[in-house]
Amino acid sequence: MKLTLSLAIIVTVLAITIDGYSCKIVQFIFGDSLSDVGNNEYLTNSLARASLPWYGIDFGNGMPNGRFTNGRTVADIIGDKIGLPRPPAFLDPTLNADIILQNGVNFASGGGGILNETGSLFIQRFCMYKQIELFQGVQDLVTAKIGPTAARKFFQEAHYVVALGSNDFINNYLMPVYADSWTYNDQTFMNYLMETLGAQLTLLHSLGARQLMAFGLGPMGCIPLQRVLSTSNACQEKTNKLALSFNNAGNNLLNELSSSLSNASFKFGDAYDVVNQLIKNPYKYGFNNSDSPCCSFGRIRPALTCIPASTLCKDRSKYVFWDEYHPSDSANELVANELIKKLGFLNAPSPSPAIAPSSEGA
Ligand SMILES: *[C@@H]1O[C@H](CO)[C@@H](O)[C@H](O)[C@H]1NC(C)=O
Ligand SMILES: *[C@@H]1O[C@H](CO)[C@@H](O)[C@H](O)[C@H]1NC(C)=O
Ligand SMILES: *[C@@H]1O[C@H](CO)[C@@H](O)[C@H](O)[C@H]1NC(C)=O
Repeated sequence: MKLTLSLAIIVTVLAITIDGYSCKIVQFIFGDSLSDVGNNEYLTNSLARASLPWYGIDFGNGMPNGRFTNGRTVADIIGDKIGLPRPPAFLDPTLNADIILQNGVNFASGGGGILNETGSLFIQRFCMYKQIELFQGVQDLVTAKIGPTAARKFFQEAHYVVALGSNDFINNYLMPVYADSWTYNDQTFMNYLMETLGAQLTLLHSLGARQLMAFGLGPMGCIPLQRVLSTSNACQEKTNKLALSFNNAGNNLLNELSSSLSNASFKFGDAYDVVNQLIKNPYKYGFNNSDSPCCSFGRIRPALTCIPASTLCKDRSKYVFWDEYHPSDSANELVANELIKKLGFLNAPSPSPAIAPSSEGA
């Protein structure tokens, strides 16, 4: 009896029939390289691409798949754990309305930021406003396929993930070649970021987003690329302070929007503390290294990207960082578990076998 009841609830939650059209709950993901699952692979002029070995070595067939890590992204892991399908990259040439209705779409793009001007040195990337524009195109496609009433419902039932911000610092504000670095100070830049993010999330709400989670930043002053800036290989505390202040402001912003926008459940979650602990004491978490990339090019640091001529660490599951910027699959798992806890997914219904993702990447 109890089992039947909970099955009934799962079916109601995961499949909603409108006008004879059964809609699944899917995810729309907006983000940067931490969530990119292949968009930049198709931006052939982009300088931010994960198209060479050894990216993807612990995912599927081990070939590069566009993810900027050896295995899964944080969004992959969270989606898997709450039973949502993994959305394909927007630029995947096989994308069509049926695939969107079954799997959602991932717009994340390496080098992208909240601000339009972020990451311009990468030449090609989708900034957040561009990602929203592409999402509007997806909405038109789905509306043409299933009609406006069903489409509105489909987009309101979907889950939205927004995970950007580190490039706005690492590849903008903290880099003197970008005008923002001399136009703003810490406080005015944070206000500018939050105003922009607030407008973007409000726009997403007007387009139907009701269930949305925004991910905060980790201790980005401790990524290997930032450590090499110091002679003692120490974390850049100024950069870490910016991440903490972003998380604080982001949390306030999401709370504000969640109460002011109708029917909105907008949540903010960050894993700063847990990653900071992991970096300070990797052994405690079963890791062996938290200050250098697993994939590196001899003694040449920073190596900027992982390439076929790079050498890999002996045990990839024991390194916090995969390359100079990006965490490894095992660090992403720790982050995902923390976000699931913080965002209150522990009580979510368990995934129905029909929509469990295929086995790749684990
Ligand atoms: C940002 O880019 C979008 C297109 O991607 C454009 O519509 C918008 O006007 C730009 N905003 C600013 C402030 O430049
Ligand atoms: C909010 O939810 C209620 C009840 O489901 C619905 O009638 C109303 O139209 C919703 N408002 C918006 C703006 O989505
Ligand atoms: C982890 O580090 C310890 C101490 O440095 C070393 O003995 C051990 O072999 C390392 N394990 C792996 C898998 O790298």
